[in-house]
Amino acid sequence: MPLMLSRDDVMQVLDMNDCIDVTEKAFAEMANGTAVLPLRTNITPPDGLSLYMPAYLKELGALACKIVTVYKNNPAKYNLPVIVGKVLLQDPNTGDVVCIMDGGYLTAVRTGAASGVATKYLAREGDGQVAGIFGAGVQATCQLWAMTCVRNISKALVYDLSDDAVEGFISKMSDKLGMEIVKADSPDTILQQADIICAATSSATPIFDGTKVREGTHINSIGSHTPGARELDTAIITRSTLIADSYEACLNEAGDIMIPIKEGAIDKSHMKAELGEIVTGKKPARNSDAEITIFKSNGLAIQDAATAKLVYDRAVEVGVGNSVEL
Ligand SMILES: NC(=O)c1ccc[n+]([C@@H]2O[C@H](COP(=O)([O-])OP(=O)(O)OC[C@H]3O[C@@H](n4cnc5c(N)ncnc54)[C@H](O)[C@@H]3O)[C@@H](O)[C@H]2O)c1
Repeated sequence: MPLMLSRDDVMQVLDMNDCIDVTEKAFAEMANGTAVLPLRTNITPPDGLSLYMPAYLKELGALACKIVTVYKNNPAKYNLPVIVGKVLLQDPNTGDVVCIMDGGYLTAVRTGAASGVATKYLAREGDGQVAGIFGAGVQATCQLWAMTCVRNISKALVYDLSDDAVEGFISKMSDKLGMEIVKADSPDTILQQADIICAATSSATPIFDGTKVREGTHINSIGSHTPGARELDTAIITRSTLIADSYEACLNEAGDIMIPIKEGAIDKSHMKAELGEIVTGKKPARNSDAEITIFKSNGLAIQDAATAKLVYDRAVEVGVGNSVEL
């Protein structure tokens, strides 16, 4: 009997620290050759886009497939969100689906967790660091949450084109994290003060001037992940040490990398490592305090599989969710 887990159920059992831990293990499996990560399959029915993201992690015992759909007319026509996601978790021994869970909150937490792992290895150490968050949407909340799990953050600055989004972000996240979060009046305010930057916007064009980023800054770029869209300009890409979640995903999906390659500003060797190679020590992380580092995240199915297994195990442990006879 598969267990059904709603968004509220997932929220009840999914913690960022635990998710960072399993996410690190998932990236290590990718580097060690025990992860199976086929390319995402995309289908385009007339009204939208349907994405199938399967993965298997041998050591974690996680076998799952996330289905995400993007239907722009959903809100007006059906009173449904544009993006809807569900994860099917299987028992690797029998292949049977043991759990179907909502994928919205899970996606935000696992995306935050990947940035958390990258920040843990790549950002400078230090007390009282400042986090700068571009975008004040769903993903941005989990980006900041993850930063506070891996670094001592004393203050966060948030910049968004929407004042309402910033106000909502500050009121929600100040309560949750119990820290000082203030609105940044301009992108430059963040560039002048932040030790760690998270770019988590829906923008298709660069969101700040890369020539103004301070030496030593670490950047997590999670927003754009289509070939023609980018949040980062060519200047910051050329100035930085670039770490990919996956070379393949970056070369096929990330405008942040693909556009500078097309311009001839960099070639693919500019990507120094995959995150899994960093966490397993196969490649070095930061080389100096002056280095600018970028983690480019496109979102991988291994993150969903690891997180779904974590959620399921915890839900069974504490008795959350409803089992349904199919
Ligand atoms: N890498 C991953 O694994 C992953 C996973 C999920 C979502 N995403 C991506 O993350 C991005 C954010 O997703 P979300 O769910 O938080 O979206 P959202 O719509 O909730 O929030 C995006 C915010 O970005 C703001 N914004 C747009 N342009 C901006 C600019 N130039 N400067 C500052 N703010 C700007 C918008 O006003 C909005 O508040 C999307 O591009 C989404 O596709 C990535």
